[in-house]
Amino acid sequence: MAFDFIEQQLRARSNDGLYRACKTMSGPQGRLLSVDNKTYLNFSSNDYLGLASDPALIKAWQKGAELYGVGSGGSYLVTGYNQAHADLTEQLKEWLGVEALALFSSGYSANQAIIKLLLGKNDLLIQDKLNHASLMEAGSLADCKMLRFKHNDSDHLSQLLNKQKSADSNKLIISEGVFSMDGDRAPIQSLYQQTKSHDAWLMIDDAHGLGVLGENGQGSVVEAGLQNSNLQIYMATFGKALGVGGAFVAGSQAFIDYLTNFSKPYIYTTGLPPAMVYTISQAANMAETEQWRRDKLQSLIKCFRTLATDNGIQLGCSNTAIQPIIIGDSKQTVALAEKLKTLGFWTTAIRPPTVPVNSARLRITLTTNHEIEDVKMLVAAIRRVLNEL
Ligand SMILES: Cc1ncc(COP(=O)(O)O)c(C=O)c1O
Repeated sequence: MAFDFIEQQLRARSNDGLYRACKTMSGPQGRLLSVDNKTYLNFSSNDYLGLASDPALIKAWQKGAELYGVGSGGSYLVTGYNQAHADLTEQLKEWLGVEALALFSSGYSANQAIIKLLLGKNDLLIQDKLNHASLMEAGSLADCKMLRFKHNDSDHLSQLLNKQKSADSNKLIISEGVFSMDGDRAPIQSLYQQTKSHDAWLMIDDAHGLGVLGENGQGSVVEAGLQNSNLQIYMATFGKALGVGGAFVAGSQAFIDYLTNFSKPYIYTTGLPPAMVYTISQAANMAETEQWRRDKLQSLIKCFRTLATDNGIQLGCSNTAIQPIIIGDSKQTVALAEKLKTLGFWTTAIRPPTVPVNSARLRITLTTNHEIEDVKMLVAAIRRVLNEL
């Protein structure tokens, strides 16, 4: 029968404890989540600065709609680039210290765009082994040669670069700034040195670093002691710490002009809704200026790590808002997440293929919306379900 792989693959996913389905959240994203008429403490969201339901941003969205309407009406090069887009672009350039940037509807499409645009048949892409699926997929679909270096291992990157023949004309090295499933940070300084000495371009995907790390939330690169403009490409999203959605790609004016002229995912898609863009501006302003959000998040992270360690819960080496507890077996991890739900905690089980085989985990995320008391209750609940396991 045609397309019978559909049923087969779904059955295999179920049998392996890897089946996925959306859960319907019935209210706004925040400290609490409502699902099926039950309320949970939310430890799964990427809303690190607690902005997704902030009253100031809800008002901004309303005001943006009044000023510019809800839809952009077209792609950026037709009617879709509004004053709201121009203002956000200028604001981000100033905040992040970059020469030029382009807005995208999602980080996923931004990553597809960059790799497809820049790398052809004779070019080389080298990525950290644990880079996000959007980067890995783009690399596999591109015509270039793709290699992966061991996670956060710039010596291995150096070996790979040294082995390349000079025929590899353009080389692009990509790492996440903060790894989405592990929460650890890339060795950005040494990646920078390696790429510089091999005449390669460096791109950092800072989806999980922007707003959270660096002076005034300028991200992982600034946290590492460099400037965002030291990189050839700095990319980040608006859907994590900024609490809204969408993404941008930053680089030299020539690179952004090239992207605007040649990148299909940029050209042939409807521009971000202007009311949303207006809201992102307000969110970026709050992320830049409201240092208390980062300070509070840091104290919650420290508290979580101290309490978890005191309770014999094994943690990775992350000091960011992403604190995975690696269980290994997928079915066990799902069972743990379900038990935590019965105790009132929403923690998502992350399984392969999102993470490597045998490394299923509870991906705990902390946000500025949490209180120390929430963290204490969470750690006690995790200890309890681990004991029962
Ligand atoms: C590292 C990284 N890059 C890119 C993306 C994609 O961003 P978006 O959700 O805006 O498509 C994600 C999303 O989870 C991510 O974690």
